[in-house]
Amino acid sequence: MTTLEAGKIVGAGLDRVDAPLKVTGTAQYPNDFSFPGMAHAALVRSTIAAGRIHSIDVTEALAAPGVLTVITHLTAPKLERGPMTLLGGSPAAPLQDDRILHYGQHVAVVVAESAEEARHAASLVRVQYEAAEALLDVDDPRAEIVVNPWGLDTERGDVAAGFAQADVVVEGTFTTPDNTNNPLGLMSTVAYWHGDSLTVHDSTQWPHNVRTSLATVFGIPESGIRVLAPFVGGGFGAGLRMWPHVILTVLAAREVNRPVKLVLTRPEMFTSVGHRPNSVQQIKIGATRDGDLVAIEHHGISSVAMEDDDYEPVSVCSAVSYACPNVLTRDRQARLNIPCPGSMRAPAEGQGNFALESAIDEVAYAVGLDPLEFRLRNYAEQHPILNLPWSSKALRECYLEGAERFGWSRRTPEPGSMRDGRGLVGYGLAGVSYPFYQVPCQARASVRRDGSAYVRSAATDIGTGTYTVMTQLAAELLGLDVTRVRFDLGDSDMPYAPQAGGSGLTGALGNAVHTACRRLVREFLDVVRDDAQSPLRGAADDDVTVTDGRIHRVGDPVQGESYVDILARHGLEELSADGRSTPPRSDDLGMAMAGAFGAKFVEVRIDPDLGLLRVARVVSAIDGGRILNEKTATSQIVGGTVGGISQAMFEETATDQGTGRIANATFGDYLMPVNADVRDMDVIFVGGPDRATAVGTKGVGEIGLVGLAAAIGNAVHHATGRRIRSLPITIDQLM
Ligand code: MOS
Repeated sequence: MTTLEAGKIVGAGLDRVDAPLKVTGTAQYPNDFSFPGMAHAALVRSTIAAGRIHSIDVTEALAAPGVLTVITHLTAPKLERGPMTLLGGSPAAPLQDDRILHYGQHVAVVVAESAEEARHAASLVRVQYEAAEALLDVDDPRAEIVVNPWGLDTERGDVAAGFAQADVVVEGTFTTPDNTNNPLGLMSTVAYWHGDSLTVHDSTQWPHNVRTSLATVFGIPESGIRVLAPFVGGGFGAGLRMWPHVILTVLAAREVNRPVKLVLTRPEMFTSVGHRPNSVQQIKIGATRDGDLVAIEHHGISSVAMEDDDYEPVSVCSAVSYACPNVLTRDRQARLNIPCPGSMRAPAEGQGNFALESAIDEVAYAVGLDPLEFRLRNYAEQHPILNLPWSSKALRECYLEGAERFGWSRRTPEPGSMRDGRGLVGYGLAGVSYPFYQVPCQARASVRRDGSAYVRSAATDIGTGTYTVMTQLAAELLGLDVTRVRFDLGDSDMPYAPQAGGSGLTGALGNAVHTACRRLVREFLDVVRDDAQSPLRGAADDDVTVTDGRIHRVGDPVQGESYVDILARHGLEELSADGRSTPPRSDDLGMAMAGAFGAKFVEVRIDPDLGLLRVARVVSAIDGGRILNEKTATSQIVGGTVGGISQAMFEETATDQGTGRIANATFGDYLMPVNADVRDMDVIFVGGPDRATAVGTKGVGEIGLVGLAAAIGNAVHHATGRRIRSLPITIDQLM
């Protein structure tokens, strides 16, 4: 049967199959859906970070034009908290009591005939608070410290003994700020009830999670709930959890017995749909004079909201990145009166890699080795905790081929030694990894009487290219032209798919599609097994392959017949097959499941008079396993690179330490790079398919972002001799 080795379609830089729908405005995002009689909701948010609602007066709001209802904690029904998920527990249900746990907490929802009327009436809801002192600083000694409950702390060898052997010890405290995901599409929900069934259009990265969560919250069966998300305007992790505003929209629709639409405002996006939590990291690294790592100790503390269990294990990258005999990693969380954090692109690695790879660079300088040579010298040939070979690892090739492409050999090691006129030039690099993450997934494939294929799964395409790469994969495996394959997603009535997150969807879904397509060909063979008219009679799975809509004997294109002929002769409208994928386990395979690896090379230019930092060039060499589509995969890495430059130099969600207010919650105030800030971004893919799964992808969603902060910081050091330990890198750090 067709294997991917034969691939002609997979790998090619096929244009996005959904591009025409997007560029013509035909693609419908959640807030594009409207229904007859639809009402609109607007939120009222807390203006304090901690305390109680003393009183809430809705009289004026209720009397305002067009208002249908106002729901507060005094009138809301009892709602259950959503279930535990793969990403931890759900945020608490809204409007359940008078307590305020963070600034921006929803305290009322107003429903009106129009969005404008709802928003106006929301401004008329009078809330009086009894404020309490809020805990807002990750360093606040009064904050409850949550000890890592997920078993992700690691320890191997004896770090004290390791440091005792070290000739060189580098130690530092690194800080990263809160960042806000800010997908371009304002997150939106449209909900309508029909009897006790419910349909929801939502900006989610995981339709099944919204379905399961709503079933729990409202105490209704999952089978009566349908969640649709065929297009969403980005996510970066903001759509992984089901947030309270989704519950409020569904509740509002039930109360007014009409469809209700809620579109978050940009300021609401800063407090309602998660953010990358800030971190304070202590890292200490010891090496011998010869440049062998002997000890790494990495302690991370991140912030978490009250009554929330989001997690961000920032130190874990230090556990597996290098062959070092003595390593200890610890993650803790400080509970604060902040909006719930959540995963934001490259969660944990994005922060942890900054500390690790900056400190590694410093150690390389301390022992007098080129930073690239130092990393190769301490290369983890096998998984340093499991002591198993990697299922694939081309990080060495990333370093070597990336260095070649970048021109690393032109670098003169002395800080400040490279110049362009008066300008300082710096070269920096970082090694990166993103852990293997795959969870079970299902898909269903059908071939219809006209010979076209229909493949579906309840996944999402958050702009990553899921529609396109799954179309390619199914076309390859079914021996059809891509124009004869339709891949559909974004509907919780389709087979189960996990979240588009953790760089895991393409692998999980790809392997499910692979199984479904292989089974579907087998279904056809079953139909003709005893068919005297079929040249395929009696053929076993391995005897056949598929080309141009025909199943035929391997090496003999004549001995076969088309899907169309088989279906017609047997009076069948279609044949279908289900596929499931379950993630391989390192123990079963005797190898360590590898995620993506990469090396990031950066050239910076600094104006020493003005402290102006510019990233002139980035080369990203990526081992992402099998690349299903070179164009969309490159686009993922380029997008991640922009996100990484943004993390390194621009983004910082500013919380007012008095009130907990987010002080820069608009696109005017929250800095992000513009075109002039992102210049030459070169991407090369190295390595090949991972051997642990049939499809062999490793995910390219997060790896593009990881390491830019360290590589830019290391380049700044090379240019100026200054070590950067705090993000974002601002002018004051360079003057
Ligand atoms: Mo990604 S932060 O797992 O959507």
